[in-house]
Amino acid sequence: MKAGYFQFKPAFCKPEKNIEKINTALKDKDFDLIVLPELANSGYFFSSFDEVESASEEIPSGKFCKALRVISDEKNCAVIAGICEKAGDKYYNSSVLIMPGKDIITYRKIHLFYEEKKWFAESDTPFSVHSFSNKRVNDVKIGMMICFDWIFPESARTLALKGAQIICHPSNLVLPYCQDAMVTRALENRVFTITANRTGIDTNREGKELSFTGMSEIVNPKGKILHRGTIEDDEVVILDINPEEALDKNVNSFNNAFTDRKEEFYFK
Ligand code: ACM
Repeated sequence: MKAGYFQFKPAFCKPEKNIEKINTALKDKDFDLIVLPELANSGYFFSSFDEVESASEEIPSGKFCKALRVISDEKNCAVIAGICEKAGDKYYNSSVLIMPGKDIITYRKIHLFYEEKKWFAESDTPFSVHSFSNKRVNDVKIGMMICFDWIFPESARTLALKGAQIICHPSNLVLPYCQDAMVTRALENRVFTITANRTGIDTNREGKELSFTGMSEIVNPKGKILHRGTIEDDEVVILDINPEEALDKNVNSFNNAFTDRKEEFYFK
């Protein structure tokens, strides 16, 4: 299976420009699954609800969703992207999973980070796992989490226990820990992880800056970094992976990452 990410710097509050960037970058590429960064339609560092409103859209009728739908249909692939979502009078930091011939699946970020709490509503979508098939791929289980969800190990664990083979992780990372931590998330759950981070700096209206760390990453179920990107460059990276590797939860001939769990000893 050909799976990967597009790392780039979303133009702030310019959804049309971001659609164009994505179309140009992916036009000549062949893949079954692609992951784009968090808030890929809007950029990140908002200063007002006017900005959030101007960059947000409804799912599935918005232009960003429609553009991703075209990519998914034309390439017969799964597209996962972070999106600034408008729903009624609320906004969500969401991620969509778009597959040919299927309704769009939306995940709304459960663990909001920093000033996101000013703009985005609390999630009402549990972590969930979805099957993807095309000509090359049969029934691969895909789960989504967004950026800061990484610091709560329960996020990846829940997706893995629900059967995810590939955890797709749109991100706008600013702290320096996640790329290393995702090695453990992949290893402890024996899953593939694809973290699609953004690059560049967003400056808000008060002049505060957030600098994003790039280094998007694909990790295999044994915790091997198959690819880690650069800090600053736009890049499309697509690798051949075998998702069946994520079905084997054995650590050795005595230990299994799932069946050896001792839930009765864990804090609830
Ligand atoms: C983050 O959750 N965007 C750090």
